[in-house]
Amino acid sequence: MRTQVGIVGAGPAGLLLSHLLHRAGIDSVVLECRSREYVEHRIRAGVLEQGSVDLLRRSGLGERLDREGLRHEGIELRFGGAAHRIAMTELTGRAITVYGQQEVVKDLIAARTAVGGDLRFEVEDVRLDGLDSDAPVIRYRHQGRDEELHCDFVAGCDGSHGVSRPSVPAGVLTEYDRSYPFAWLGILAAAPPATEELIYAHHERGFALYSMRSPEISRLYLQVDPETDIAQWPDERIWAELRTRLETVPGWTLNTGPILEKSVTGMRSLVVEPMRWRRLFLAGDAVHIVPPTGAKGMNLALADVTLLGDAFAAWYREGRDDLLDAYSDTALRRVWRAQHFSWWMTSLLHRLRTDDPYEAKLQLSTLRYVTSSRAYATSLAENYVGLPEV
Ligand code: APR
Ligand code: PHB
Repeated sequence: MRTQVGIVGAGPAGLLLSHLLHRAGIDSVVLECRSREYVEHRIRAGVLEQGSVDLLRRSGLGERLDREGLRHEGIELRFGGAAHRIAMTELTGRAITVYGQQEVVKDLIAARTAVGGDLRFEVEDVRLDGLDSDAPVIRYRHQGRDEELHCDFVAGCDGSHGVSRPSVPAGVLTEYDRSYPFAWLGILAAAPPATEELIYAHHERGFALYSMRSPEISRLYLQVDPETDIAQWPDERIWAELRTRLETVPGWTLNTGPILEKSVTGMRSLVVEPMRWRRLFLAGDAVHIVPPTGAKGMNLALADVTLLGDAFAAWYREGRDDLLDAYSDTALRRVWRAQHFSWWMTSLLHRLRTDDPYEAKLQLSTLRYVTSSRAYATSLAENYVGLPEV
């Protein structure tokens, strides 16, 4: 079997790439190890930058997003017993939209299948060969049979535990990373959000975040120890801790309801450079990871494949390889801006170490500064709504 671009992974990166290539008249096949049902229901982050919304609309994917997405023009930073609003739209002219990643994934799968796109779910044992030749081959097993996909290029969009990045020979890639001594316990609850805008709360017991998915569903997070066993967190304990960390403003109470899902995710920062080796192009979580505090993960994945889509289009239409050659450097500029912002938000808002009062004092000073200086607030806001590459 032959295609032009073989894509590994049906997350936002792989699916959007396949969609953009189709619009440019380029064939692709997407190979995904999970089932369609699984990827459509996997709960992940849910903040789209203005630029991501514009891109999805431009690509014909705006219909449900415009209907169901929640446009937000500000966020709240809560600390020291008070609420402080960062007026993003007033400061930058742009806004963010809350729309679950799995909704983006559903819309993309629907768009691909509507035009007969070739998406193969539940493939096994994916192996990449011939990446340093003009004729790469992706070998895999599907429905009990050994298959081969011959292509011109491979796009490795297979997330943080994929096979694409490890297929690059040792010594070619450089990793830059940072780990954090905490994790997030996230819940999805059948409770109307008690806030119109996201609340990022800094508290001496640890960070908490109030987000949402719809007028009926809240999404909340608590900073916890990375070793946390979810079994130690029955629903009542989660609500009690959320109350302690969030009900710090007089008269404000959170709404509770049945918890529909709960999980613990570790936090990490990682960039792997370059984002290309010969005929393999890496995009999204396969090549960089951010802690979720800056809400950048999905946006970076979408931005990478937008560049990649244009670069493949230039190659197939005009025989140009300049955009393919520039892909990694161009993408990395945005990636590093998001790395800094995500690290900065994470360091600002979490309880860092119990024994370092100096750092805690610096955090409070920075929080006061960012919520009182228009210049500093604008810096936070423009990073949050998304900057062009800088
Ligand atoms: N073979 C085929 N598919 C694979 C393999 C493999 N060996 N390994 C992983 N995959 C699939 C995963 O099951 C997943 O569906 O690749 C897909 C990668 O998708 P994501 O993890 O969603 O990554 P990406 O598309 O880059 O989107 C990044 O996801 O984790 C969030 O915070 C992150 O929002 C960001 C977004
Ligand atoms: C979410 O809604 O899941 C969410 C929102 C903001 C973040 C992270 C996650 O910073």
